Amino acid sequence: MAVYPITRYPATFDLRDGTAVTLRPMTRDDGPALAQFFLRIPEEDRFFMKDDVTDPRIIETWAQHLDYDRTLPLLAFMGDRLIGDAALVRHRGGYRRDSAEIRVVIDPDYRGKGLGTILMRELITVAWDAELDHVDFEMVAGIQSEAIEAVEGLGALHAGTLTEYVKDPHGQPHDLVFLRLPLGKWWQWTNF
Ligand SMILES: CC(C)(COP(=O)(O)OP(=O)(O)OC[C@H]1O[C@@H](n2cnc3c(N)ncnc32)[C@H](O)[C@@H]1OP(=O)(O)O)[C@@H](O)C(=O)NCCC(=O)NCCS
Repeated sequence: MAVYPITRYPATFDLRDGTAVTLRPMTRDDGPALAQFFLRIPEEDRFFMKDDVTDPRIIETWAQHLDYDRTLPLLAFMGDRLIGDAALVRHRGGYRRDSAEIRVVIDPDYRGKGLGTILMRELITVAWDAELDHVDFEMVAGIQSEAIEAVEGLGALHAGTLTEYVKDPHGQPHDLVFLRLPLGKWWQWTNF
């Protein structure tokens, strides 16, 4: 399985409002900061995450079992404050080894400033460097509309929908939407 080239981190980027953020992969010591970060994420966003990120044991398990080639968590810091978390998640070997999923969540105080786009762009570039075929995104229609717009803006295409597949906290069903960003020349063309 191709490994991710990540020597470019830490790297600094400017948000749209001029705020400087530093991106780097998560390390073993980041558990407590990440747990605090997820407590700042609104319950309605956390509800749709794949893990119970309010459980400190889950975060600590992530911190103690880092394997960047399986899951590359890229963190964004403004000074000491953790303000964004994105992950490139892939399957080990086998039939799905050429694709990866991207997940991203931004501190509500720092949304709408371009950080989500920067983190996604970085992880897409990492996947592109590793010569993966595509990256995928899973979003809940009518709930994660901002995220859908953000990945469409990066060139992702609708790859399928599972109709009324998930329920929100009020029991209302929503479609689960799959978006796919082809890499290779597609990413080169949409990126330049
Ligand atoms: C989705 C999310 C990651 C976007 O992060 P962000 O830093 O605010 O995103 P950006 O500032 O880079 O904005 C990217 C695009 O998202 C869309 N967007 C962002 N904020 C928006 C808003 N308030 N209303 C509508 N669209 C919005 C726009 O298309 C925007 O593009 P533009 O800046 O060219 O207009 C963030 O809202 C978040 O953490 N949401 C909760 C978690 C989530 O839904 N994750 C996705 C599932 S993996």
